Amino acid sequence: MSPKPAATPGIPPAARGGESAVPRHVAIIMDGNGRWATKRGLPRVAGHRAGAEAVRKAIEVAVEAGIEVLTLYAFSSENWRRSDAEINDLTGLMRFYLERELKTLEKEGVRLKLIGEPAAFGAELAAKLERAVERTASNQRLTLVVALNYGSRVEIAAAAKMLAERAVAGEIAADQIDEALLGAELQTADLPDLDLLIRTSGEVRLSNFLLWQSAYAELVFLDTLWPDFDEAAFGEALGLFAQRQRRFGGR
Ligand code: FPP
Repeated sequence: MSPKPAATPGIPPAARGGESAVPRHVAIIMDGNGRWATKRGLPRVAGHRAGAEAVRKAIEVAVEAGIEVLTLYAFSSENWRRSDAEINDLTGLMRFYLERELKTLEKEGVRLKLIGEPAAFGAELAAKLERAVERTASNQRLTLVVALNYGSRVEIAAAAKMLAERAVAGEIAADQIDEALLGAELQTADLPDLDLLIRTSGEVRLSNFLLWQSAYAELVFLDTLWPDFDEAAFGEALGLFAQRQRRFGGR
């Protein structure tokens, strides 16, 4: 993993350090599992199962491409509105894949990090996830960030609350609060800036995902449904990224 450039508030690292054609940090909104299943006359869970296989492939491609951080939106704080049966299916799949794939993550040098509020999935799954985080903590090839019960507005509000508490406690002055201090309270504080955000399935919105972090990210929207997101689709997104001229507000 290349060393992280020193933090200079407001100036994204890639703008300072000479741009790379390979993004350091890629995030994906994995959308279209349900439509993929419906098109085949299958239950939605079959789409999620195929989607989980696509997750495995995406991790492999990220490792091969030399991406440092891959952040996946696995369950949003709005997904609780789905039926109990679908939520059960999704949590069951996560448990299954975690058990099956943990050894691979360890072997491939993948560090697992969680953002969001995974405790909401119950003590047993939360403990399994925590164990996987601990067991992979020293891996350095790829950081796989899984967003579970994640919502960007909740994350930003929690950071603001933390800063308010620190100001009330006299640790910081209110007028010291700036984007660097707020960014340091986010769950992504230890990660490089987001370079590329991909959404599959043709929907063109961010759905409360990494709103702060995507300020200067390149956005790529693909029509591919998530279960069909393979090496070629990932390659297409990386190719589009490589063609973009990133100006970070400059000229
Ligand atoms: C969006 O498709 C996908 C999800 C809500 C969940 C993503 C979950 C997985 C890829 C599987 C399990 C995850 C891991 C990390 C092993 P959708 O259901 O919203 O599709 P639709 O818009 O076509 O209905």
